[in-house]
Amino acid sequence: MSEEYILQMKNISKRFPGVKALDNVSFNLKRQSVHTIVGENGAGKSTLMKILSGMYTPDEGEILINGKNVTISNPKESIQNGISMIYQELNPIPEMTIAENLFMGREYTNGPVLDKRRMLKESKKMLEECGVYLNPNTKMYRLSVAEKQLVEIVKAIFYNSQIVVMDEPTSAITQKEVENLFRIIEKLLKDGKSVIYITHKMDEIFKICDDATVLRDGQLIGSKPVAELDTQKIISMMVGRELSNHLFTKLDAEIGEVALEVKNLTVKGKFENISFNVRKGEVLGVAGLMGAGRSEVMETIFGLRKADSGEIYIHGKKINVKSPKDAIKNKVAFITEDRKLLGLNLKASVKDNISLVNLANCCVCGNVLHLKKIRDTADAQITALRIKTPSRDQIVNNLSGGNQQKVVLAKWLLCEPDILILDEPTRGIDVGAKAEIYRLISAMAQQGKTIIMISSELPEIIGMSDRVIVLHEGELTGELNRGEFDQEKIMTYAAGSNS
Ligand SMILES: Nc1ncnc2c1ncn2[C@@H]1O[C@H](COP(=O)(O)OP(=O)(O)OP(=O)(O)O)[C@@H](O)[C@H]1O
Ligand SMILES: [Mg+2]
Repeated sequence: MSEEYILQMKNISKRFPGVKALDNVSFNLKRQSVHTIVGENGAGKSTLMKILSGMYTPDEGEILINGKNVTISNPKESIQNGISMIYQELNPIPEMTIAENLFMGREYTNGPVLDKRRMLKESKKMLEECGVYLNPNTKMYRLSVAEKQLVEIVKAIFYNSQIVVMDEPTSAITQKEVENLFRIIEKLLKDGKSVIYITHKMDEIFKICDDATVLRDGQLIGSKPVAELDTQKIISMMVGRELSNHLFTKLDAEIGEVALEVKNLTVKGKFENISFNVRKGEVLGVAGLMGAGRSEVMETIFGLRKADSGEIYIHGKKINVKSPKDAIKNKVAFITEDRKLLGLNLKASVKDNISLVNLANCCVCGNVLHLKKIRDTADAQITALRIKTPSRDQIVNNLSGGNQQKVVLAKWLLCEPDILILDEPTRGIDVGAKAEIYRLISAMAQQGKTIIMISSELPEIIGMSDRVIVLHEGELTGELNRGEFDQEKIMTYAAGSNS
């Protein structure tokens, strides 16, 4: 009955120093179906897929495609076997244009020269067919994380593959693009392809997946048709422990004086005349679609961009923010969206990453480095945020995606800022750890900290915010208080309508 399956992975094991990432895991993918792999951060999902894509060789196990044994010992062999993969950690070459990236490895030529015009034209068509309206001449480094993700999706789809693997494809894109992606997946299925879909978003599983496989600590917990599952069942298979029912903690916090005020802030071409304030003890949600300018506004407040006009006040005092140093001096912290670029030193250990900002800017340790204190602090954060790592000395690059995000959070939380700006704080984070992060955010507000949270996950915005501001194409289109906002109202403002 092997024809039922396009892909079978049998008894796969993979060990890394200090971790058994996969322990005798089997996985079967039905023809023309969408199969999700779920599990907590560090469960082994990406590792299983990297074995399929030839990035890693398994210690044990075999792979069958169409019932036949295949060897996949490098990415090229994986592509030859009809597998294309959208990695969780995107690594496009920054200097390439979108068109060059889309045609990498299969360029059109006109005799000995590259047929750039044809590739541009084709790229435009490919992008449009997927509802992605970007100029194919744009360099990759100019794109936001979400845009890069979309380009990678388009690229994978147009490879002539039979299996498309998407490792958290929607972690950076917003609702509208997600719907687009789902349409693309439908099209892939119609064309006879099969999809492996990794996600931490439960609703997506029920929307588009046929089967689900759950991993926990590198072990296979089970595979079932999604029709036989519900959120609660999946979560309990994933975590294997009791989880409290409510995801969002919102502790009573006293809302005090205005801590940060922004007046008519403008960066030409990005956003215009943005004015808002946020108070002590308050959680301000910032909603909007991709490209609305939310990150850009926060980057300007933090000194990563130069404002063309407008003013920033902190505790009533006008501040001239020329660089992040000025912001940090005023106890503003910014947890960025792109952990690869701004958040982490990937080559350093978990311990060193956690204590980095802390040492440089908060001087908790005076002039002498208290090594024991650094170690203890790191260990405390590893426990508090459930960072899955064999030790505090593990290189951050070797952690799973979600665990890297937790390290970024740990590091900034330690800095004890007055004003904390979080850009997509739970992106790629599993449900259990999400609840933990919400609890921390709420506790910080209760201690009188000021929190600004950009998020594309509406349940998160609604669950955590005291007030929400909404941006659309660089303009502030709405402001709503807790009790006033719901999914629909926020989406209306985000779509640019202020009726
Ligand atoms: N190159 C590597 N070197 C050492 N350890 C690794 C390496 N790659 C992964 N690991 C470890 O293997 C385990 C599984 O990681 P994996 O990336 O597969 O998790 P995941 O399920 O994809 O998690 P997430 O939801 O956070 O993306 C983790 O403990 C991780 O730290
Ligand atoms: Mg992963």
